[in-house]
Amino acid sequence: MKRPFIIDCDTGTDDAIALMAAFGCPEINVRAITSVNGNVKEEYTSANNLNLTEYLGIDVEVARGATLPFYPRGDYYGPTHGKTGLGDVVIPDAKETSFSRDMAPEVIHRIAEEENGELELLVIGPMTNIAIAISLYPQLKQQIKHIWFMGGAVAGGNVSSTAEFNIWVDPTSAKMVTESGIPMTMVGLDVTTKAVLGREDEQELRAFGSKASVLSADILEYMFKRCKDGGEDALMHDALALAAAVIPECLTCKEAFLDVECRGEYTAGHTVTDIVGRSLGKAPNASVAVELHLDVFRKWLLECIKRCGQA
Ligand code: BDR
Ligand code: CA
Repeated sequence: MKRPFIIDCDTGTDDAIALMAAFGCPEINVRAITSVNGNVKEEYTSANNLNLTEYLGIDVEVARGATLPFYPRGDYYGPTHGKTGLGDVVIPDAKETSFSRDMAPEVIHRIAEEENGELELLVIGPMTNIAIAISLYPQLKQQIKHIWFMGGAVAGGNVSSTAEFNIWVDPTSAKMVTESGIPMTMVGLDVTTKAVLGREDEQELRAFGSKASVLSADILEYMFKRCKDGGEDALMHDALALAAAVIPECLTCKEAFLDVECRGEYTAGHTVTDIVGRSLGKAPNASVAVELHLDVFRKWLLECIKRCGQA
């Protein structure tokens, strides 16, 4: 039996690669994709999700979602993923498919009911949709089996010196989710900044020649240019959160008390992770990835992308 997943994402260059990996992952059944504001505006992340699935011929429900975080962040969209989320990569507009009639929180609620305690969430953008869903349907706290999320860092940040982007965008929602009691695994910058793909990987994917592998190669090419211009490298932040769920051996994780700082003038969006287990005296509520075995991850990721769309 495949494990049922909903992927909540702000697609996003590395989100797109994570989605393609998920579609090529034999262990999981992607029941729905729910879109959220984050890397770019929600109208773009939603369009990217719909366009991507139609382009690849993947039959999956795609829902729209939250357009604003609960934390007052203003207009923060940066250059990392370009204006529309996929850098300079263009995929055709979807013609045959359309968005779900339900918004993200309803989709999460409906599928959680159907899956009877088995639903897992892969959350690779700000947590706004998940917080709204939990607020509307508190029974989700018992119905969701596990949340695997990309976000946070034990130490450091990529937006500020203490905050990672997904959590920084909407710390209010992230706090609600971390306090939910749902079992969760945090895959943060401590490991995702080491999850880098290189020219060899791009060439292997391009040579394979499938729609998904060539699209992934094009996204990597954009990332290489971005890096050359002083931006982020080809970091597979989001695909690594998927890997945590499917090939746990690629990471070393530690149990920790996890909470989110919402109030600090400089530190809002910081994930407090008490790995040592002594400083805060609170019981662990999350598993936190602290070490990556890069070769295991890279091999697995390329295999999944190559399987995407191959019936
Ligand atoms: C996270 O922010 C986005 O740029 C990526 O898609 C990833 O989810 C990394 O901080
Ligand atoms: Ca993302």
